[in-house]
Amino acid sequence: MLIGHRGLAGLAPENTLASFRTAAAHGLAMVEFDVRLSRDGVPLVFHDDTLERTTSGTGPVAERNWAEIAGLDAGSWFAPAFAGECVPSLEQVLGLCLDLGLGINLEIKPDEGREAETAEAALALALRLWPESVSAPVISSFETICLDVARRVAPHWPRALLAEALPDDWREQATRLEASALHLDHRTLDADVVTGIMAAGLPARAYTVNDPARARILGHWGVAAVFADFPHSS
Ligand code: G3P
Ligand code: MG
Repeated sequence: MLIGHRGLAGLAPENTLASFRTAAAHGLAMVEFDVRLSRDGVPLVFHDDTLERTTSGTGPVAERNWAEIAGLDAGSWFAPAFAGECVPSLEQVLGLCLDLGLGINLEIKPDEGREAETAEAALALALRLWPESVSAPVISSFETICLDVARRVAPHWPRALLAEALPDDWREQATRLEASALHLDHRTLDADVVTGIMAAGLPARAYTVNDPARARILGHWGVAAVFADFPHSS
């Protein structure tokens, strides 16, 4: 299975509405995206902690109010055809993914010191907007504080422990968080690591795999899904 990374970040500007539309247009069933907070506490979909790489703005996201961020161009850096594409709010992305029938992996990516606040705001909104009748969002984060919050406020939604490499204490962490999957950097995986995770009854998903040959090897080891910037069939 292929999960669109930041929407479908190889074909459209990452984490924009265009990126989610592109993922759906290529037949993907699920997308991953990153959620952080503006200064005034609005959950928005954006990867970096600063604005310059992917928008017309500068400086830390956490020092700008939502009204300022919403006015930035988040598409021109990628290609002129995407000029005027905006940084979307989480509310906009949830609404669009529901409209498009896309399953979601909501990665909580907090600024330092705002871990619980970010998780609480993002999950409160998602719990309000995401119908119970639709396949539940997968909640992931590199910050275990965020997954602790998810376990408390959305215990019925699956949680994935997210790390570059498998932590030594992954079994303890997964048990404590009642995690249902591990999301790991594919470069840190080998057959033994994947076998060990599967032996614990947990699926391993790997990011970010843009080489179809590598995806096949990972699948052969037992990796259940890969995050990719491109549809591998093209
Ligand atoms: O959630 C998988 C992957 O997105 C984690 O890395 O830096 O792309 O958010 P990053
Ligand atoms: Mg991510």
